[in-house]
This record gives sequence, structure tokens and C-alpha cells, in this order.
Amino acid sequence: MAFYEECDYLFKAVLIGDSAVGKSNLISRFCRDEFRLDSKPTIGVEFAYRNVKIGDKLVKAQIWDTAGQERYKAITSSYYRGALGALLVYDITRRVTFSNLKKWLQELRHFGESELVIVLVGNKSDLGHNREVTEEEGQEVAEREGLCFMETSALENLKVEDAFLQMIMQIY
Ligand code: GTP
Ligand code: MG
Repeated sequence: MAFYEECDYLFKAVLIGDSAVGKSNLISRFCRDEFRLDSKPTIGVEFAYRNVKIGDKLVKAQIWDTAGQERYKAITSSYYRGALGALLVYDITRRVTFSNLKKWLQELRHFGESELVIVLVGNKSDLGHNREVTEEEGQEVAEREGLCFMETSALENLKVEDAFLQMIMQIY
């Protein structure tokens, strides 16, 4: 019970995007300040929490993580149900993860709540020498689709906090 009494608001956010783009590491960086170079692909659905102070209110973010690989559609609708925010993640060093955004956006718009706040995230900005997607291209997609946009590095902890907070600030 104390779990709910501690905070003024509890909200659900989801991460989606292709396998190995860094969803789980973005979450572990934001929630626990941890990063793993040898992280395993996520199986099923996992959760993490982080409290964020907004003005004088304490907001508890419940962040859902799942595998980027093809999932059973039965999981999909419950994964999105009730989510107020989403980070849609691609890997700036793998063009295919950027091309697949179209598919992810279709899924988001089909299963997501109508007022879902979406932040587009180009992760692995520390690997600029292997870049296959420019920052401008990410920005263009975001503008066209009406999303916020940010390039992040879970490894170097660049803009990770900003990406999550941008989503949370838009919700409240
Ligand atoms: P699935 O669970 O299979 O959908 O993958 P995921 O999107 O959760 O990816 P995960 O967080 O497991 O990261 C995949 C690999 O990318 C791991 O080897 C991470 O160490 C690495 N990685 C994640 N974020 C970054 C980053 O910002 N920079 C670099 N260089 N590597 C990263
Ligand atoms: Mg994962």
C-alpha cells in the first residue's frame, strides 16, 4: 500500500523499437544508473520504476520493457493498454532500425491510447563513427509524425534523462 501512498501520480510508459537498439539499457540507466555491454535480449515483459519530482508533485513512472523481436499479438494490446507515454527507439548505427520506425508507428497508433505522448529516440550517439542515420533524418521523421526527438547514449549517459523527462513533462 505504501507503494501507492508515496506518490501523487502513477503512470505507465512503454519502450518499443527493434531488438538491440538499447531499450533495456535506457531504462536501467534512467531507473538505476546502470549500463551493461553484455545485456541479454529481453524475454517477455519487464518493469522498472522511477520517481520524478515535478513542481511539488511526486510522479512515479512505471516503465514497461519488452523484446524488440516479433511478439505475440496477444501481448501487444495489453502492453500498450493504459500507457500515457512511449519512447520509440532506433539505433543510429543500424539503418534498418530506422526504416522499421514506420512499422512501430503503425503499431503504436493501432494499439496506443489516442493521447499517447511519443518521443522518438536515436540511441547509441556515442558511436558517431559508425553512424548510418543522421541527426537531421531523425528530426525530419519526428517533425513529420508530430513527435519529440532526441539522440541519446545509454552507455555515456547522454540525454537519457532528457528523453524520459521530455515525455513525462508533456504528460503532466
Ligand atoms: P531487446 O531486448 O532484444 O529488444 O534489445 P534492447 O533494445 O533492450 O537492447 P539492449 O538494451 O539489450 O542493448 C543491446 C546492445 O546494445 C547491448 O550490447 C548494449 O550494451 C548495447 N547498447 C545499448 N545502448 C547503447 C549505447 O548507448 N551505446 C552503445 N555503444 N551500446 C549500447
Ligand atoms: Mg531489452
